Amino acid sequence: MATSVRSTKIENIAGLDSAYDARYEIYAPDAETALRHLYGDRKEFLEIFTRIMHAVRGAYINRPEALKQLDLRRSQQPDWFQHPDRVGYMAYVDRFAGTLGGIEEKIDYLKELGVNYLHLLPFLKMRPVRNDGGFAVSSYTEVEPRLGSMEDLEKLASHLRENGISLCIDFILNHTADDHDWARRCRNGDRAFKDFYHFFPDREAPDQYEKTLGEAFTETAPGNFTYVPEQDEWVWTTFYPYQWDLNYANPRVFEEMLKSLLFLANRGVDVFRLDAAPYLWKRLGTDCLNQPEVFSIIRAFRALIAIAAPGILLKAEAIVPSYNLVHYLGAGVLAGKECQLAYNTTLMTMLWSALAEGDAVRLARVLETIPPVASGATWLNYTRCHDDVGWDVLLEEKAGYTEENWREHVKFTRAFYSGDTPGSFASGKNYQTHGTAGSMASFCGLEKAVLREDDDAIDLAVRRLLLLYTVVFSYGGMPLINMGDEIGQLNDQEFATREGYDGDGRWLHRGAMDWKKAAWCHGNGVEAALFHGVQKLVDIRSSTPQLIQSVAKPAVDGDGRVLKLHHHNAHGELYIYVNFSPTPASASAPLGRVWRDQFSGKVIHGDRIELGPYGRLWLTPVDEAE
Ligand code: GLC
Repeated sequence: MATSVRSTKIENIAGLDSAYDARYEIYAPDAETALRHLYGDRKEFLEIFTRIMHAVRGAYINRPEALKQLDLRRSQQPDWFQHPDRVGYMAYVDRFAGTLGGIEEKIDYLKELGVNYLHLLPFLKMRPVRNDGGFAVSSYTEVEPRLGSMEDLEKLASHLRENGISLCIDFILNHTADDHDWARRCRNGDRAFKDFYHFFPDREAPDQYEKTLGEAFTETAPGNFTYVPEQDEWVWTTFYPYQWDLNYANPRVFEEMLKSLLFLANRGVDVFRLDAAPYLWKRLGTDCLNQPEVFSIIRAFRALIAIAAPGILLKAEAIVPSYNLVHYLGAGVLAGKECQLAYNTTLMTMLWSALAEGDAVRLARVLETIPPVASGATWLNYTRCHDDVGWDVLLEEKAGYTEENWREHVKFTRAFYSGDTPGSFASGKNYQTHGTAGSMASFCGLEKAVLREDDDAIDLAVRRLLLLYTVVFSYGGMPLINMGDEIGQLNDQEFATREGYDGDGRWLHRGAMDWKKAAWCHGNGVEAALFHGVQKLVDIRSSTPQLIQSVAKPAVDGDGRVLKLHHHNAHGELYIYVNFSPTPASASAPLGRVWRDQFSGKVIHGDRIELGPYGRLWLTPVDEAE
């Protein structure tokens, strides 16, 4: 039997303080198992493991005392991020507030809305101009100079913390920019760095791989390999040609990325969004997605973080069907060993599908097929983000529908949001060959309604937006608001003239935050209706303990138009009713109790419930003492 490295030479790597030692005892074996899966067949495994453990120890020694205290508090309440008062918001630094320092001035706005988790899109040093919105990182230890400095980041993180807001950042770990120091060095012929990426002397292997690979940017960056003239070789580039995929089969890559992550964690980051997580490992003859090694990489990160900085969370950005997605949250014996959060792409895409159809049947059927999430982990529920809505992922979630029926439905949904369907309320644009770009409000019909100055249509658009948020706030997990959606920001029609556009249609919904509109949230127009509608959801949700560690059970009613979500945990029951159609619907009331709708405060009498166009109810049992 192989001797555990723990029991041999690295025992002395612990021995810092009792909290560290205790965590080391628990998590070092997990780290070892995961790393053995990745690098165990290397004769120098022991040295690799020892170096990694030294990096972890060093990170703990350098961790500021305030963060160590936070770690301890969070260890005592490991489900802190699952409490219903948690509400997320995502924003670009420059388009929301100019700089990292500028974000501090927006803390009051975020608090007024009820946000306590802030995801800032990439702000680390990036490749100039063509950088995929910052997703081409030139240095993991420097802030993009026009957005601020590392000191600004530390200051911001600490002010956010004082205000009860956790900071999430993108950890772009699948690739670096082609001007990252590692890429530069390898261009200069340094062989040690060449192994940081996947290089091929000719097209033979790339052509073999291409047979089973998909394409991320089918139109703006077709293919998965890029010719590098300086080297007369091909490099793996899943996304843009200037984003070079890292080679995790090389343990140095893992080590360097771990050090970067721990460095950023010690600046005060609370949550790392693992960008493009499914792509981390390549295997010939497969689509190079969700390979078993991907999960070992995540498990190794998780275990090592649990030793050095246990308050930190990992969030998976894995746009894959739910049967694959749940594995990023750990399943079975791996529960608690992978990410704590993952974007619920299935819910997101199906919400848009149901809204287009005015019918909740398909939505409920698909939701029923989502496998349960491991305890200690949960969904991040959202409707829009900085990316397009990619409908491809839905093709795999047929929920019993025939291939042909389902393909037609996905086609219908895409056409609907691209505004190609006659009578569609939505304004958006086809993105590459599989997605649609557009803001939440424009998808919900606000853009067309405002153009027509049609008050009834404006009202319906507001209702649609709040209906989707009602599901996002009540499904189970943490809700995430995308910058500007709370004030109904429309598509940025000038997008093609914006810096960074680079022919990428996602800039349609990446317009700068309209602070003039935001100021109207105190008035009585659309902005106020939306802002107050979201605030109300935050308030109601915070006092709904029925959502703690619970994922809704879906059902349909009202001739298929009404989605019913049911929660039942130790704190009691909760029913959500949402009518996906623009016409009134009638549904059966939940039996056995008297219920109060938290939106209107009204008690439900009788066994039928009437819902108006896009109507919604948040039903909690009336306390018998009332
Ligand atoms: C993720 C990001 C996306 C980016 C891609 C490559 O999917 O969300 O914006 O283009 O990764 O980094």
